[in-house]
Amino acid sequence: MRKDDFSRRLMRETRLSVDNLIYPVFVLEGQGVREPVSSMPGVERLSVDELLKDAEKWVELGIPALALFPVVPAEKKCLAGKESYNPEGLVPRTVKALKDRYPELGVITDVALDPYTSHGLDGVIDDDGYVLNDETVEVLVKQALSHAEAGADIVAPSDMMDGRVGEIRKALEESGHIHTRILSYSAKYASSYYGPFRDAVGSAGNLGKSNKYSFQMDPANSDEAIHEVAMDLQEGADMVMVKPGMPYLDIVRRVKDQFEVPTFVYQVSGEYAMHVAAAQNGWLDGDAVMMESLLSIRRAGADAILTYFAPRAAQLLEK
Ligand code: PBG
Repeated sequence: MRKDDFSRRLMRETRLSVDNLIYPVFVLEGQGVREPVSSMPGVERLSVDELLKDAEKWVELGIPALALFPVVPAEKKCLAGKESYNPEGLVPRTVKALKDRYPELGVITDVALDPYTSHGLDGVIDDDGYVLNDETVEVLVKQALSHAEAGADIVAPSDMMDGRVGEIRKALEESGHIHTRILSYSAKYASSYYGPFRDAVGSAGNLGKSNKYSFQMDPANSDEAIHEVAMDLQEGADMVMVKPGMPYLDIVRRVKDQFEVPTFVYQVSGEYAMHVAAAQNGWLDGDAVMMESLLSIRRAGADAILTYFAPRAAQLLEK
């Protein structure tokens, strides 16, 4: 069966298509600004006008959706992350501009406070630096509403507070946003693979030596992921996410088998950086390992993949 291409094609179990790709993008203030992210070669932080220009290519390639991540200037950060729900903030303005120009392009927003807090943690903290769950959820609800109000198609809480999906769902319903979908980062691990992302959004300096162990999941745990997904679905999540990707494919398979719901995977910044670094050194064939990594994530059970490779992978899939 493996001898010829025709029979390999006939027995192929998994396919990767552009329909499976979501492109995470970094947006910042200003005009005509394009800033490279040094730990993520090929990725740039873009001002809204530049993002609108580039988005034309991504729409043409057929990428279904973008996930927006803001780079917030230091003077707008505070202890409680108040800028996160400013209706005139960077994210709502970007959402409006994108939906205006490309109504058919799905726009996903990140619901979490870390780009907005002076300490770089994803929530409101007490005097010991502990992230307070319920106080944080109140802010997240306001943030999600400000995104929905601006026209976000999908809000994606990535903070890992308990009960936030239910509270966001309730607030969306009560304010008439009955079509806003919720993509919950349900099994989000306290991973060291997020380093380059924290460089990109500029939260690494704020975070300093502190860590996210008190609210993100322990990489040692698997049953706990099932519990987290179950809670989020019960609270009204439409899609669930496992993050990071490749080191956690066993979790993806368990989640997909157990719940049979739309299951997304975030191939995170560190995974991207590893692949690109090896390719740049000539140690790996960059395009080949990129496609293999995405196919493997699909094989593990992912319906869609957030990946910084989205435009390049879409290009190769076109042929
Ligand atoms: C935080 C957030 C993180 C990422 C997406 N949202 C990092 C973190 O938890 O510190 C990481 C994504 C990536 O590494 O590509 N709300």
